[in-house]
Amino acid sequence: MAEIAKKPIGITETVLRDAHQSLIATRMPTEVMLPIVDKMDKVGYHSVECWGGATFDAALRFLKEDPWERLRKLRDGFKNTKLQMLFRGQNILGYRPYADDVVEAFVQKSIANGIDVIRIFDCLNDIRNLKAAVDATNKFKKIEGRGESQIALSYTLGDAYTLEYWANIAKEIEEMGADSICIKDMAGLLTPYKAEELVKTLKESTKLPIQLHTHYTSGVASMTYLKAVEAGVDVIDCAISPFALGTSQPATEVMAKTFEGTPYDPGFDQKLLAEIANHFAPYREECLKSGLMNTKVLGVNIKTLLYQVPGGMLSNMVSQLKEQGAEDRFNDVLEEIPRVRKDCGEPPLVTPSSQIVGTQAIFNVLMGERYKMATGEFKDLLRGNYGQTVKPMNQEVIDKVIPGEKRSTARSAEATGHTEPELASIEKEMLEKGFKKQQDEDVLSYALLPQVAADFFKYRDAQQTKVDAAKADTKNGAYPV
Ligand code: CO
Repeated sequence: MAEIAKKPIGITETVLRDAHQSLIATRMPTEVMLPIVDKMDKVGYHSVECWGGATFDAALRFLKEDPWERLRKLRDGFKNTKLQMLFRGQNILGYRPYADDVVEAFVQKSIANGIDVIRIFDCLNDIRNLKAAVDATNKFKKIEGRGESQIALSYTLGDAYTLEYWANIAKEIEEMGADSICIKDMAGLLTPYKAEELVKTLKESTKLPIQLHTHYTSGVASMTYLKAVEAGVDVIDCAISPFALGTSQPATEVMAKTFEGTPYDPGFDQKLLAEIANHFAPYREECLKSGLMNTKVLGVNIKTLLYQVPGGMLSNMVSQLKEQGAEDRFNDVLEEIPRVRKDCGEPPLVTPSSQIVGTQAIFNVLMGERYKMATGEFKDLLRGNYGQTVKPMNQEVIDKVIPGEKRSTARSAEATGHTEPELASIEKEMLEKGFKKQQDEDVLSYALLPQVAADFFKYRDAQQTKVDAAKADTKNGAYPV
C-alpha cells in the first residue's frame, strides 16, 4: 500500500445514540454519558452521534429527561468534537410529516443547542422529503457558523436498486446542496465486495464525502468497512466495544487497530479507547443483569441476509404471529414479504416502511386471501402519502385496496395536507391546555410527541414545585394537604 497517499479514515462514535438504541432500546441516561465526555473529546473522532433517532422519544417517555437539556450538557463537554444527530426527513423525530416551518424551527434549535452534523433520511428515499431539512441546515449554518447537512440513503436490495440508481441519486443529493452522503445500511445487508463496488460508483458520481453506516447483525460489517475504506469511503460509524457488535456497529478499537500503520490510520490512542471502554463495561454488565440488554441481540443473525429483512422486523413478526397463535406460518410470511414489497413499489425496509410491509404480509397470509384486508398505513402508502416509491405500484392491488381513490404524487407534507405553517397553532394548543413554555424548545417537543411531552411537562412541574401534579386541583389552584 506504499503507493497510496495518507488518507486517515474518519470514525463516528455511535455509543451515545445508535449503539444503545440498537442494544438497550435507547435507555442510556445522560448521567452515564457525562463522566466520560472529557476523554471521548480527546480521541479525535470525526463526530460523536449522540442525539435524534429514538433518543428524543425515549428520553421524554421513559427516562423523564429533557432531550434538549441532554444536548446542551453534551455540547458543554465536547469542546473539540462535532456532535451528530439522526433526523427523519419531513417527520423530524416524530411519526407524521410536518409543515416546513416546524422542520425549519427544529433544525434551528438543534444547531443552536449544539448539533454540528444533521443526518437526514427518508424511508422511501424520496429526496423531496429531505429538502426542507437540508435547506434549513444550510440556512442556519450561515447564521450559527455550525451545521452540516448529510443525506442518508436507506440501503436496500431489489431490481430497482442498481449501481446506476445509487449513482444518480447521489448526483441529485449533491445538486440539492447537501454537504455529505451517508449509505445507511440499517439491516446489515451490504456485503464487503458489494460495498467496494458501491463506494467506487458513488465516488465517481459525486465529489461529496461518503460516510458508511452499517449494523453488525449479519456478521459481515467489519469486513464491509475494510473493503469500503480501501475503495475510498471517508468515514465509518463504529461503537466502543462494550456497546458494539450484535445489532450495533463494529467496534471502534478493532477498526482503529485494523488501519494502524496503513495510509488509513485514524491515529487513535488505544490506551485512551480502553479507558472509554472501561467506563461503559460495568454499565453493559448492569444492562445484561437487568435484562435491558438481551443476549439475543448480541449474536449473528444470518436470517437477515437470507431474507433481506432487518433483524428488528423479524422479531416483530415473530411476536405478531405468536399473538395470533400462528407461529407455524412464519415461513409463509417470509415468502410473502418480497411480494408485498414489489406490489407497493419496492421500498427500502426501514421505519416505518418495514412495519407497514411486514404487517400487510401477515394479513395476506392469515386471511387466506391477499389484500382481503389492508392496514390504514398500507392504504396511505398506496395513496402516496409517504411520497413516491422508486418503482411503480401494482395497479391491481391499488384497485382492490383503495378502489377509485385519488392518489397523490406530491412529497409527504403536501400529500397529507401539511402545506401551511403550523408551529403557531401547535404552540397555541399547548398553552391553551395549560402547559407553560419554559423554553422555546418545549413547543417542538410538544409538536413531535404531544401526549408524551405533556406527561413530561407535568412531571417537570411536579419536580420543580415539589407538588404531585396528579393530586393537584389545577382548576382552582388548590392542592390537597
Ligand atoms: Co443505524
